[in-house]
Amino acid sequence: MAEWEYGGVYKKYNLIEDEIYKINNIGKVMVHDITKGLPEFMKEADVLFVDPPWNKSNLNTFYTKADKDYRLESFKFFYEHLFNSIKQIKPKICFIEIGKENLHNFIIEMKKIYKYVTFYNSTYYHKKDRLCYIVQGSNKRINYHLDGMDEEDIITWICKNIDYKCIGDLCMGRGLVGYHSYINNKKFVGTELNHKRLAVLIDKVEIEEK
Ligand SMILES: C[S@@+](CC[C@H](N)C(=O)[O-])C[C@H]1O[C@@H](n2cnc3c(N)ncnc32)[C@H](O)[C@@H]1O
Repeated sequence: MAEWEYGGVYKKYNLIEDEIYKINNIGKVMVHDITKGLPEFMKEADVLFVDPPWNKSNLNTFYTKADKDYRLESFKFFYEHLFNSIKQIKPKICFIEIGKENLHNFIIEMKKIYKYVTFYNSTYYHKKDRLCYIVQGSNKRINYHLDGMDEEDIITWICKNIDYKCIGDLCMGRGLVGYHSYINNKKFVGTELNHKRLAVLIDKVEIEEK
């Protein structure tokens, strides 16, 4: 089976583009391309954690994996939509994961929205040589000690320790944010381009519920 079938679990769920899919009473998700506008339900989020594509080639790989026959000409076009969505959601704290290449651009965009902007050195897949950064924006001064932690541990920490009503993720993928929020019995909302990737989260929750 091709890797981008993601185990084929999507065949079990009827995920329709641009329609809300409810996961128990705790999550609302949607197959949706964020360059086409922000769905209203995403405004329920008061904290965001987003791990978007990191550059143009990475972005277009995700369009390929999602079986889309169009590609984006510029990464800037994508991240302007991302930050425009954040501006509309207005979460009290926003975390965005990014690689080195676009770290400065994401800091600039975050500073247009928030008074306090900082970033943490992080890693992904729990591998020391897989470096990334988590940019944090807020309008109140906050002092979390997340530097040097793996992104998954940061997500786990946020879902457990931050007092939020609903966490949002605009590029859910296979749903780490949604899953950890669910584990902590806290609401989540999210969008994701690829229904096959999003179905992985739905299936994980289904299995936990059994
Ligand atoms: C780095 S992955 C996120 C991984 C995620 N944190 C997880 O737990 O699996 C980036 C995700 O962004 C999604 N994506 C790419 N372009 C998008 C777009 N225009 N709108 C919504 N999601 C998009 C991709 O399909 C991919 O799943």
